Amino acid sequence: MPDRFEITHKDVFGRIGKLDTPHGHIETPALLPVVNLNLMLIAPSEMRQFGAEALMTNAYIIYRSPRLRAAALSAGIHSLLGFDGPIMTDSGSFQLATYGDIEIHSEEIVAFQRDVGSDIGTPIDIPTPPDVAHDRALREIDVTVERIQEATRCCGTDMLLAAPIQGSTHLDLREQYAGLLSKLSADVYPIGAVVPLMESYRYADLSNVIMACKTGLALNKPVHLFGAGHPMMFALAVALGCDLFDSAAYALYARDGRYMTPSGTHKLKDLTYLPCACPVCSSGDRKLTERELAEHNLWVSFSELSTIKQAILDGQLWELVERRCRHPALLQALRTIQEGFASFEAIEPLKHSFIYTSTESAARPEVARYVKKLNRLDLTGRVLITTNRQKTRTMEHEFDTTLLVKAPFGPYPPELAETYPIGQSEVPDPDYASIKSAMKNLIEFIKSKNVEATFAYDEEWDHDALAELSSFATLLRL
Ligand code: GUN
Ligand code: ZN
Repeated sequence: MPDRFEITHKDVFGRIGKLDTPHGHIETPALLPVVNLNLMLIAPSEMRQFGAEALMTNAYIIYRSPRLRAAALSAGIHSLLGFDGPIMTDSGSFQLATYGDIEIHSEEIVAFQRDVGSDIGTPIDIPTPPDVAHDRALREIDVTVERIQEATRCCGTDMLLAAPIQGSTHLDLREQYAGLLSKLSADVYPIGAVVPLMESYRYADLSNVIMACKTGLALNKPVHLFGAGHPMMFALAVALGCDLFDSAAYALYARDGRYMTPSGTHKLKDLTYLPCACPVCSSGDRKLTERELAEHNLWVSFSELSTIKQAILDGQLWELVERRCRHPALLQALRTIQEGFASFEAIEPLKHSFIYTSTESAARPEVARYVKKLNRLDLTGRVLITTNRQKTRTMEHEFDTTLLVKAPFGPYPPELAETYPIGQSEVPDPDYASIKSAMKNLIEFIKSKNVEATFAYDEEWDHDALAELSSFATLLRL
C-alpha cells in the first residue's frame, strides 16, 4: 500500500503533512475535536467553520446504544454524525481505564468501526497510567500489542489503523514498543495514556514520553497525541513530532467556565477583557454562554495550529516554542528537551534567521551546530579573538588571524559577518546564558586547533567560563 502520510515541510521534529483517508486528506498538524453524540454542544456539521478538517468520536459509545448502533450500521458513521470528512474513532479504552471493565472484545469493536465506515479505527489498547511498576506496564503493553496485531488481520479494508503506544512513564518501554509497532502495518501511531500527565501539568514527563516514542518510531510515521487539546502545549508537542491531536477539552473547559488562550487558561468570570479577536470574543458581550465559550476554545485552538504551521514554513518553530513555554511547567519541559534530545541538531533544517527570545535560545541546536561548521576553519599560528575590534585594531598586526565573537555562537572570521547565523541573527546584548554558550563554543574551537590564542574581552564578557578558558588562551581584559 502506498504511504498514506506525506510530509511536505519540516522544522525541529515538527512537520506539515498530509494524511490520506477514505474521506479525504487531513492536513497535519491537525486537531480532531471529539464529538459525543449523547452530549453535543456543537454539532459535527458546524465544526468545519472553526477549522476542523476531521473529527474524533467514540465507537464504543455508539456501539453501546442500540439506537445509535443500528443507525451507524445502516447509514454509516458519516451520515450519523452529519459530517462527510475524515472521522477517527476511539475504541472504549478510556471507558476501560475509567470503569475497569467493558463489555466488548477488541476484535469486535474494530470490526464495528470498519463496518460503520470509520476512516481511522482504534483497537482496545490498555491505557496504563503513569508511575506504575515496570512489570505491570510491560504486561499491559503486551496485551495492547496482541490486540493491534489482531486488528491488522481483521481490518483488511480501507480503514486506517491506529496503533497506540503505551508503556506508562517507562521510557525504555515506550521506545522499545514504538519500534516494534512501527514494523506492523498500522497507519497512525497515537501516544496513549498521557492525559493524566497533562492534567497534572507534568509537561517535562510528557515530553520525555513523546521523545522516547519518537526515538523508537520511524520518522515518517504520523504520530497522534491522545487526548491533547490545550493550545498552550501544541507548539511544544508539534516540535517534538506530534502530528494529530484529539480532544474534548474545548467542551469540557467550557462546561467549567474555563477560557483557553495559547499561553494558558483563565476563568471566564475573572476576565474583564477578552484577549482574543475570534467572532465570539469580538462580538462585544463579555458574558459568554457555555456554547460560546466552547466556540472560542475551538477558535483559539485552530488559530494556534495556523500559527504553528506558518512557523514551520518560516523555520521559526523553536522561536515559537520558546515564546509559548513560559508557564513554569512548560519552561521545565523546554529545558528538559534541550538537555535530552541530542538528535535535534542532526535533523535541524538549514535556516536563514535566528531570533533570540530568551536565555533558552542559547541552547538551541543551531548554536551547537555552529561550532561544528566553525571547526572546519583552517587556522594556525597566533590568533586574536576579540569582543571589541575597535579597541584591538592597533594590536592586530601582531597576530596571524583576528576573529570576532558573537554570543551565543562564539568566534567568527570577519568575512562571515554577513552570513547566517552571525549576520542573520537578532540577539540582544549578551546575557549570562548567551556568553556561557559562546565561551563553550570558543573553548571547543580552540581545543580543536593547534593555535596560540589570545582572548581580548570587554567588561560584559567577564564570566565564570573565563577561568576555564584561561588554560587554553591568553586573556586580555580591554
Ligand atoms: N484517549 C486518551 N488517552 C487514550 C489512550 O491511551 N487510548 C485510547 N484508545 N484513547 C485515549
Ligand atoms: Zn475568542
